[in-house]
Amino acid sequence: MFNVAGKHALVTGAATGIGQAIAVRLAKAGCTVAITDKPEVELDETADLCRRAGGAVTTRALDVRDLGQIESATAELLSELGRIDILVNNAGINRPTPTQDVDRDNWDDHFNTNVRGGFFCARALLPTMARNGFGRVIFISSQSGLVGIRGQSVYCATKGALINLARALGVEWAEFGITVNTVAPTFIETNLTRDRLKDPDFRRLVLAKIPKGELAEVDDVACAVVYLASEQAGMVNCATVPVDGGWTAW
Ligand SMILES: NC(=O)c1ccc[n+]([C@@H]2O[C@H](COP(=O)([O-])OP(=O)(O)OC[C@H]3O[C@@H](n4cnc5c(N)ncnc54)[C@H](O)[C@@H]3O)[C@@H](O)[C@H]2O)c1
Repeated sequence: MFNVAGKHALVTGAATGIGQAIAVRLAKAGCTVAITDKPEVELDETADLCRRAGGAVTTRALDVRDLGQIESATAELLSELGRIDILVNNAGINRPTPTQDVDRDNWDDHFNTNVRGGFFCARALLPTMARNGFGRVIFISSQSGLVGIRGQSVYCATKGALINLARALGVEWAEFGITVNTVAPTFIETNLTRDRLKDPDFRRLVLAKIPKGELAEVDDVACAVVYLASEQAGMVNCATVPVDGGWTAW
């Protein structure tokens, strides 16, 4: 029903967690998937899962904090694959820190990974999508981009920035058949959150905020991404899709 078959997709931060699930879903739906992550991070597991899901896959080292790597990896992938139709800016970090302890490195690391990296990946690929008359750019934001969450002000700022960045890019590139959207998940148990969710008080607090009373799963996000990436979602532009069981509704 939601057609992405035959498209070429690039996913950042695809070694594990949400990025891995997105890559596998796209592969299962018939995409050729370029999976990328920091040079020191192993991509074999995701590559294997994508192949077993029936998709073609290629891998590249890409630390999104490094603008040179963005330029070279996207150029290499364009020359290898001919075109990239779908960009999923998933790579992200969260290092919750009380405001008084946030130093410049903490601020810069969050913004360079979560916002600057995604922007420059989009900048590298939007012109070629425009030439092809089709493109989908999807940023993995967070419910933390829609509401404030104690102890993670910098992360919340980056995720809010992505929501308005997507609106502005979506307005600018719509005439070329490109949509730009964000997905805003609630808490999901991954390497990013596992330690914090082990604390029973924190877990109770999180679950009490989700009307559904459950954490989300990586695949909930991946399915929303497949929809936004599909041809059928062409009129969904500049939007934020919460995958939060209702957290941000009250
Ligand atoms: N897990 C959650 O509860 C949750 C909720 C909302 C949003 N998110 C967002 O989803 C995205 C994925 O998170 P996750 O939970 O899967 O986390 P994760 O830590 O399991 O995976 C993140 C991936 O990004 C990669 N990465 C980190 N820095 C990078 C860089 N500089 N360049 C390239 N890759 C880099 C990591 O190596 C890792 O493979 C993030 O943007 C995160 O903010 C997560």
